[in-house]
Amino acid sequence: TAGELSERLGYSAYVVGGFVRDLLLGIDNLDVDFVVEGDGIAFARALAKERAGRVKVHERFGTAVVLLPDGFKVDVATARTEYYEYPTALPTVEQSSIKKDLYRRDFTINTLAVRLNPRAFGQLIDFYGGQRDLKERLIRVLHSLSFVEDPTRVFRAIRFELRFDFHLSKETLALIKGAVKMELFHRLSGQRLLDELRYLFSERTPRHAVRRLADLDLLRFIHPTLTWSNRLDRRLSEVEAALEWYKLSCLDRHISGWLVYAMALTEAMPDQAVHEMLERFPFTEAERGAITAARFLTQPVCRALSRRAPLRPSDTVALLAGLADETLVFLLAKNASASAKRHLSLYLTTYRDVKPALTGKSLQALGFRPGPLYRTILERLTTARLDGDVKTEA
Ligand code: CTP
Repeated sequence: TAGELSERLGYSAYVVGGFVRDLLLGIDNLDVDFVVEGDGIAFARALAKERAGRVKVHERFGTAVVLLPDGFKVDVATARTEYYEYPTALPTVEQSSIKKDLYRRDFTINTLAVRLNPRAFGQLIDFYGGQRDLKERLIRVLHSLSFVEDPTRVFRAIRFELRFDFHLSKETLALIKGAVKMELFHRLSGQRLLDELRYLFSERTPRHAVRRLADLDLLRFIHPTLTWSNRLDRRLSEVEAALEWYKLSCLDRHISGWLVYAMALTEAMPDQAVHEMLERFPFTEAERGAITAARFLTQPVCRALSRRAPLRPSDTVALLAGLADETLVFLLAKNASASAKRHLSLYLTTYRDVKPALTGKSLQALGFRPGPLYRTILERLTTARLDGDVKTEA
């Protein structure tokens, strides 16, 4: 085991943080964090070797990631090892090392650790009242400078609050209000803020997250023009419903739900503000394209989808092909007309998978010489099949 391994190497090893928190809450968590008093990298290498895992090392930080064959991902960190300075007082200082390591963390519920070394295997270590706060369902910082040290923790606080249905402790709430007053969030890079928002909107209830951000006056740090409104609330509910439908109807596909919420946020912002947001946050090209399309390119599409005149399936495909699923789901959420909704959902579940029964190979077998003609033939066949003009292979 990892405990025996650390014993052999002469280290103390602990599993810490989110894994322990979730263990006590009875929630599965495949991300395991180890802290080693000793050489974390040597420990990680040995662990990977013993368990046939793969290891990736970050020398500079004294950390490593071990990927185990059973799907577990183990982050290994080296505890700040003060004990080199006090070689005579090993046991106490050894403890103070994990203690210090845990003190650098965000909330008490994330400071719990479990010993792995055989002589005390399974012992729960709780320096900062983590168990009490888990019981009382409280998110509490360890000290008053926590948000000054790292303002992203404010967003993490909201994330945990919503995920576990916990509350902010009184002092923590006051410190968040202070951080807002001091506008600490302007200091954050676009990358860090975007990461936090992506995590937040990937939780179960992004609508509540936006509401909470608004209550705490944090929306303005995403963009000064972003404010709460009933209209936004309604749109967020519609996005929720559309994503729900998508997940049930397009089982084999993956969607970045958070991005659809981001589209909803930008909807009421002025064009200029949307451009500024796209500047500030380092979205990927695909994400940027999906947001831009949702915002600037889909008006004629929506109009065409809502027209009374019947649309042939191939017309729907011509209108929607090339749009990201996130954009399509946003259109689904946004379009009130029943006909637009029907076209969008048929496209997502059926039309886009329609292919002709023939392939290039079959054309070759029929005696056609390979060339650009193939594409024309196959496209026409697809259209014919979509519109029901061709039904069988024959
Ligand atoms: N941490 C922190 N400040 C941050 C980010 C992380 O103090 N801004 C600490 C937390 O105490 C956390 C640990 O680093 O326990 C690991 O971070 P992360 O993996 O993001 O957190 P988890 O608690 O595992 O959360 P999740 O369940 O969302 O993965």
